[in-house]
Parts: sequence; structure tokens; C-alpha cells
Amino acid sequence: MSETTVIQNTNFNATVEYPDEAVRRASVDGTPETLTLETRNLSRAVSGKLLVNDISVQIPPGEVLAVVGPSGAGKSSFLRLLNRLDEPTGGSVLLNGTDYREIAPRELRRRVGMVMQTAWLFPGTVAANIAFGPRQRGEILTEEQIAALLNRVGLPGYQDRDVSNLSGGEAQRVSVARTLANAPEGLLLDEPTSALDEASARGIEELLLDIIQERRMTCVIVTHNRLQAARIASRTMVLESGGLVTIGPTKEVLHDH
Ligand SMILES: Nc1ncnc2c1ncn2[C@@H]1O[C@H](COP(=O)(O)OP(=O)(O)O)[C@@H](O)[C@H]1O
Ligand SMILES: [Mg+2]
Repeated sequence: MSETTVIQNTNFNATVEYPDEAVRRASVDGTPETLTLETRNLSRAVSGKLLVNDISVQIPPGEVLAVVGPSGAGKSSFLRLLNRLDEPTGGSVLLNGTDYREIAPRELRRRVGMVMQTAWLFPGTVAANIAFGPRQRGEILTEEQIAALLNRVGLPGYQDRDVSNLSGGEAQRVSVARTLANAPEGLLLDEPTSALDEASARGIEELLLDIIQERRMTCVIVTHNRLQAARIASRTMVLESGGLVTIGPTKEVLHDH
């Protein structure tokens, strides 16, 4: 599928006409706008090497924090610890003050969604991919709810398409919709636009920013794009060799580093 198709479907004026209510109803107990995400002395060592070294940060509800730093700095390792895709070897993560090891991993990952650089969709239709998370919890999304999610991410009418026919940008939109189907309170983004051409990347960035703001989701975005950090994140932290070098208002941090 050509990139032209992506751009044609990137119609934000059309998508904002759809209310978010059906999407919110998609969740049994979705209570966004309230998540404080905190790391306390968070560390992870593998084979004696510290990939993440003693990081303590607090991210209040609705804040977008950017994580920047050179390749291999531990940005992805840090992010993966935040919803326990990897296990800390020191310290922990707190959700509204509760140690996340007290929360069942599936519930944790429902509350803190993740979108990676490349969309990981399983073979089948777009609709099946979107319904997957809720179904795991025994919750069936209605056709109306799936349609609302697809409208929201700028892919109206994509329900029955096979994911193997999607462009990179479209696939990334589907993975955003799939994450939203879980009504997360927090969102972890690992270079969500870096595998896309510039037009698709900008479209995804705008979509994510709109959604984060309208749901006041607490968000951590790894990006090597400083302009993107400046557009999206109120605060930025710099990682190097697994350690926190600095954290502060994005403009100040990017000015100094
Ligand atoms: N599972 C792993 N086992 C051992 N080393 C790893 C593992 N994952 C990443 N690393 C190493 O940890 C360091 C940080 O990697 P990563 O978090 O992917 O960095 P970044 O996302 O900032 O580029 C790198 O040196 C990488 O090679
Ligand atoms: Mg990385």
C-alpha cells in the first residue's frame, strides 16, 4: 500500500468529530487521568552490566516525559521496566504509590500501555487485533466500539482489512488503537515514529499528542528526535550508560545537552 494512502487517511479534522465516549466505554473500569508513575532507585543488571542504574523519577498524572540519550544508553531498557516487560534487579516502580509487583502483570499492562517503534500485530484482521486485549480479559468489544477506535486513529472502515496489507504508518495507527482499546492510564512510547517516513511520522506524533492530551494520560516517550521531544514533552530526562544525567523542563535540558 502506498504512502499516499496513509496521507489520505490522515484526516484529523474528520477524526475529531467522533466523540471519545465509545472508546471510554470500551473499558470496564477505565479510570484515566489519575496515574502517577514513579520509579524508585530503579535498576536492572544483566550479566553484571547495569543497563539501568538507580533511576528515581516521579511522573505526575497527564505529564509527558521524554527520554533521550545516545544509542545504547538504556532508554528502551528503562521503558521496558516501567510495565515490567523486564524485571528490575533493584528498586521498583510505583503506580499511585503502589509497588507494581503487587499488581497482576496483565492488569499492569492494561493500565500502562506500550507502543514500540514497529507495530507488532498478529496475522489476521485489524478488528481482531484491536479486540485482542479486551478479549483476554473476557470483554468483547462491540463493532461500534471498534469502529470508534478506528475513527479515532484516522483509519475509518479498516475493520476487515488484513494487517499484512497495511503500510507502516497504518500499522502503527492500529497498534495505537489496540492500546487504546485497553483504556490505559499511562502510555509508554519507544521511538514510535522513527521507523516511518516523515509524513507518516508527523501524523502519528500528532495523533499521539492529541490522544494523550484528551485522556490526560501519563506518558513516557523515548525519542532521539529532539524536535519531537520539544513538541511533545514538558520534561525531558537524559540517560547515559544506564544512568540519569539530568532531568528538567524540555527546553532547558535540550539547550544544555
Ligand atoms: N537483554 C539484554 N541483555 C544484555 N544486554 C542488553 C539487553 N538489552 C539491551 N542490552 C544492552 O543494554 C544497553 C542498553 O540498551 P537499550 O536499552 O536498548 O539502549 P537504547 O534504547 O538507549 O538504545 C546496550 O548496551 C545493549 O546492548
Ligand atoms: Mg532503544
